Amino acid sequence: GPEVAALVAGASIDVPDFPKPGVVFKDLMPLFADGAVFRRVVDAIVAYHGAGSFDVVAGVEARGFVVAAAVAYATGAGVVPIRKAGKLPRKALSASYALEYGEATLEVHEDAFVAGHRVLVVDDVLATGGTAAAALELVERGGGEVCGFTVLLELGFLHGREKLSPRTVHALLTV
Ligand code: PRP
Ligand code: HPA
Repeated sequence: GPEVAALVAGASIDVPDFPKPGVVFKDLMPLFADGAVFRRVVDAIVAYHGAGSFDVVAGVEARGFVVAAAVAYATGAGVVPIRKAGKLPRKALSASYALEYGEATLEVHEDAFVAGHRVLVVDDVLATGGTAAAALELVERGGGEVCGFTVLLELGFLHGREKLSPRTVHALLTV
């Protein structure tokens, strides 16, 4: 609701020209660092989806790990870290994508998801949607059932949501 949106807005810092000219980077590190705000944010995600509505939480390296681990611990769900390329030791599925400021590949072990398990996918920011689309593709190719997708902050002017259609996105704050 509006209270949590205000907390996210108040705990982020706009950084002009990072990581390259023309990008105004929203830094959410202050949100993670404030224990009361972080807890309210995690609780809001759990309340929205309902504890027990998912079996595992998938989070995207690196900031998505912070959110995913907290939501999983709060609900007793497991965590599946979706990693940047080249980090995983065993056979992995890969998906490449374009970022607001570059290009990258995500990977997950091919046996990371139990068939039919309900997977809540989380990340800190939805920008162009490339990362989210790749993460959702990996969950599905891995045999998981994506049951929800939540971000703390959606940059609405980049229209990432459209890239994920017809899937819906839950954002605590859209700017
Ligand atoms: C950021 C952010 C999201 C993604 C959003 O991660 O945490 O994962 O970009 O951008 P998109 O919607 O345009 O794909 P980044 O790749 O910068 O990695 P980091 O978490 O390791 O800093
Ligand atoms: N802030 C944080 N993460 C991001 C951003 C941003 O503005 N854009 C893409 N990922």
